[in-house]
Parts: sequence; structure tokens; C-alpha cells
Amino acid sequence: MGRYRYILSYGIRDSWKYARDGWGIALHRICSRTGSFPPSLAHYFVMKYSRIGDVVLDPFSGKGTAPLEACLNGRIGVGNDLSPEAYVLTRAKVRPVPKRRVLEWIDYAERRLDPSSYEVSEVDDDVRAFYSNYTLRQILAVRDLIDEIDDEDLAIFIKAMMLGILHGPTKIHLSVRCSHSFSMAPGYVKRYVKENGVKKPKRDVLKCLRIKAERVFKDGIPSVKGFAYMNDARSLPIEDESVDLVVTSPPYFNMQTL
Ligand SMILES: C[S@@+](CC[C@H](N)C(=O)[O-])C[C@H]1O[C@@H](n2cnc3c(N)ncnc32)[C@H](O)[C@@H]1O
Repeated sequence: MGRYRYILSYGIRDSWKYARDGWGIALHRICSRTGSFPPSLAHYFVMKYSRIGDVVLDPFSGKGTAPLEACLNGRIGVGNDLSPEAYVLTRAKVRPVPKRRVLEWIDYAERRLDPSSYEVSEVDDDVRAFYSNYTLRQILAVRDLIDEIDDEDLAIFIKAMMLGILHGPTKIHLSVRCSHSFSMAPGYVKRYVKENGVKKPKRDVLKCLRIKAERVFKDGIPSVKGFAYMNDARSLPIEDESVDLVVTSPPYFNMQTL
């Protein structure tokens, strides 16, 4: 125990705890996810313990908060997460595409989208619990259009934006009103919808995506690009010596859900 010193965060003069709510560029908020640390915390450690050009790694990067703060501050942010959804969010943050390309793709998708040929009866009942058939058909059509994208960074970025609107409480969220940071239990949602006569919203998916894009790019994107991996942290394809700083919050024991 003697080797470690525990410090209370409020005791640090320039602590991240004093940052205002919502601190950090809008790209951080592309999608909510439980268990994330605030951007101000990542910023604090990146600035304090690394220099410009350093490699900053988060082996359990979740939604990519630490790698994004690293890239924003001239470091090379590297993120890794075993969860495919976390990988998409991390990669969107360390390899974002310009706003123009996203808007061009949405224009293209609006011309191509044909939800009428999609059958929602093939979708798992637990997924249908969240969406009106009208919205779900569009989600399926958008998914197929994303699959056609050649540029992987663009495809990942659009996926990350879709993850950000798939469920939540506002008018740009596609599901019945629910939490935006975790997916609620389908059984609960089914019961709630039935007992309270809740109408599943009919959304124009690409319109919601366009609004999301306007918000996400509000404060720009980092000029430095980083890297994202989807590996078990115990077998990362990275040499120890190539990393200058690790900023991370590991999972609780036995908490990997894959
Ligand atoms: C507490 S969260 C990290 C949150 C992150 N700091 C953020 O701001 O979003 C821990 C992450 O570890 C990931 N994880 C769990 N076991 C893992 C493993 N063996 N290898 C890589 N990632 C793992 C989970 O998917 C989860 O995203």
C-alpha cells in the first residue's frame, strides 16, 4: 500500500471537478454511454502527464473520451475496446470525417432511401418494442446504405451518429421515450407501452441524422488523427514502449458483457 498515494479529486487545485457541466467539444456528445468519465478528467491527465506528439492510450476506451482529448491537444490518441459499439464511438472520435462529407452522404441517402421494401416482421420482437414500423423500416434501409459506403471512416462516423439517435428522450431520438445512455429492458418497455398507451414515434430518420450532424460538428473536430482497436485489452497489437501515457477507467471485475 505504501507505494500508492490516494488523492481526493476536489483537493486538487485545478481539478476537473471544477469544470462546468457539458465541458468539452460537441463531438464528445455524439452518443451517450454509461460508465464514461467526463472529458474534463481526461483533459486534466492528458495535459498534465503528456506532451505534444506523445502517444496516449486508453485500453478500455468506452466512447473514446480520453483518445479524443488526446487528439484535440496534439497527442496521438489511441483507443481500444472489446465492445463493437464502443469501438465505433472511439473510432469516430479519433478518425472523424469532415462535416461536408457527412452532409453529402445524407443528401445522397435521401435520394436513395427506399424503406418500402423492408419487412419489419423479420426484426426481433425485442427490437420492435422500441420503434414504430414506420421508423424501423427507415433504420433498416439506412443500415443497408451505410453498408455500401467504401470509406470506412465515413461509414463508422455515420454509425456512431446513428448510435447517438437510436434511443433517447428527445425528438431526434428514434425510439419510444427512454434513456439515452443505456438500452432499457425490452420487457419493461413492452409493458410500459401497453399499459400507458404510449405511441411509438414516427421519425424521419435522415432528418434526425442531419440535426445530429449539425450538433456534433458545432465545435469542430481535431486536426490530429489517432487510432482505434477492437481487441481484448490483454492482447493489444501495441508495443508497451510506444505508449507515453495511459489514461483509463477499467471495467469492474467480470463486467464484460460480450
Ligand atoms: C468503464 S468503461 C470505460 C469508459 C471510458 N473511460 C469512457 O469515457 O467512455 C470500461 C470499458 O471496458 C470495456 N472492456 C471490458 N472488458 C474488456 C477487455 N477485456 N478488453 C477491452 N475492453 C474491455 C467495456 O466494453 C467498457 O467499454
